[in-house]
Amino acid sequence: MQDFKGRTAVITGGASGIGLAVARRLGEEGANVVIGDIEAEALERAATALDNSGIPVEPVLTDVSKREEIVALADRATERFGDIHFLHNNAGVTTTGLAEELTDLQWEWVMDVNLNSVVWGCREFLPRMKAHGQPAHIVNTASMAGMSGGPLMAPYFTTKFAVVGLSEGLWHEGQITQSNVGISVLCPAFVRTGIARSDRNQPDGMGGWVAAGSEHASRFGEFLSAGVDGGIEPSDVAATVLAAVQAEKLWILTHPESSDSIERRMTAITGTGIPPEVRNMGQ
Ligand SMILES: NC(=O)c1ccc[n+]([C@@H]2O[C@H](COP(=O)([O-])OP(=O)(O)OC[C@H]3O[C@@H](n4cnc5c(N)ncnc54)[C@H](O)[C@@H]3O)[C@@H](O)[C@H]2O)c1
Repeated sequence: MQDFKGRTAVITGGASGIGLAVARRLGEEGANVVIGDIEAEALERAATALDNSGIPVEPVLTDVSKREEIVALADRATERFGDIHFLHNNAGVTTTGLAEELTDLQWEWVMDVNLNSVVWGCREFLPRMKAHGQPAHIVNTASMAGMSGGPLMAPYFTTKFAVVGLSEGLWHEGQITQSNVGISVLCPAFVRTGIARSDRNQPDGMGGWVAAGSEHASRFGEFLSAGVDGGIEPSDVAATVLAAVQAEKLWILTHPESSDSIERRMTAITGTGIPPEVRNMGQ
């Protein structure tokens, strides 16, 4: 997909961070943008800011962990702007703790927001995009955590690896069906956003994003927050996303230095089968 002028882009998690930056970047290219997000106040603020910049915008309060709300997001976008040309499945959350320390509810929350929503989004929007037949594109946000594993975020690694697998599968299906819908998967390392404050969007009664009473997890939480605060700007990610979509790239990497860890992982898999290192993440 080359040209966004007069096209319609739907972005989940579009009220802040990477999603808002992509919405703004595509709006500057002339797109109508529909931002879906669970956080009502941030959504209104984002819509006002985009509107003030002259970008046609529709904010839709959406909890992507509920399939029917993803359908409603697609319907609302179509009612307001007509055909949809771009979908960014981007909303995401994290928790930290040893896999067995996290509660079932914490696991389910990350699985629904980070993975099931992406499956549902692709299954809802793809047929609509194929039906109109114009150039279209879906970007799924995974992470470098979908490219090489590490400790204390097992639900996050699980979902992000799965989003990479889903996206690769869709890309291959697009090739054999000569689809008009391109597919990309976004795999950033640290970006300066609100991701380490994910618990602001947790359902009631979940008890925060750090496993209760876990010494490992609270140290890791500090490491993660510091990494995110020192990350690259969301606007840089958005510029990379736009260029990659226009170049029809499948994998979108935003941190050149992170290629090393992918190469080390692949070399270990095909070589000794022994992981190259225990990743030091604040332990
Ligand atoms: N920031 C990083 O370092 C980093 C690195 C790799 C990948 N990512 C991924 O980038 C994506 C965007 O996150 P971000 O870093 O911009 O963080 P962020 O917290 O700033 O943005 C995430 C957005 O998703 C929204 N959201 C959360 N739960 C939702 C739900 N149930 N329904 C709808 N919206 C919901 C939030 O309100 C927020 O606006 C996530 O998928 C995240 O995993 C972030």
